[in-house]
Amino acid sequence: MSENWKSDLSIGEEIIDNAHQEVFDLTTMLDNAINENSRDALDPIINFLESHVIDHFHEEEDIMSSINYSDSEEHRQDHAIFQVQVAELRRLFDEEKHTTHLVYRIRQFVDKLIYHIGTVDIKLAKIKNTHKGSHD
Ligand SMILES: [Fe+2]
Ligand SMILES: [Fe+2]
Repeated sequence: MSENWKSDLSIGEEIIDNAHQEVFDLTTMLDNAINENSRDALDPIINFLESHVIDHFHEEEDIMSSINYSDSEEHRQDHAIFQVQVAELRRLFDEEKHTTHLVYRIRQFVDKLIYHIGTVDIKLAKIKNTHKGSHD
C-alpha cells in the first residue's frame, strides 16, 4: 500500500515539497519491486535515497541557516542518522543480501523518512511562515 503526499505536508517551498512528493512516490516503486521480487528494481531506489540524503537535506539545512531556525541541531542530527542508514542500505545491497531482507530494510527506512517529513520537516513550514510574517 502506497502512502500519498498530502498538501497539508507542504512547507511552501517548491523544491522541498517536490522532493517530499518523490519520497512518497518511492513507496509505489518499492511496492512494485516487492511484487516482482526484483533485486534490480532496488538499485534505483537506493540511488534515489543516496542523492536525497545529500541534495535535499542540504536544501533544508540551507533554509534552516537562513532563518536562524532554533531546532536546527535536532533536525540536522536526524539527517545525519539517515545518511548513515542509507550508506548501510548500499552496503547490504552490494553484499548481495537477500532481496526480501533488502526490501524490508528499505521499507523501514522509507517509513522513517515519511515520518520525518510529517513531524520534523513540517515544523519548517510554521517557522518559515512566522519568519516571513515578521519581515514582510
Ligand atoms: Fe525533507
Ligand atoms: Fe529534514
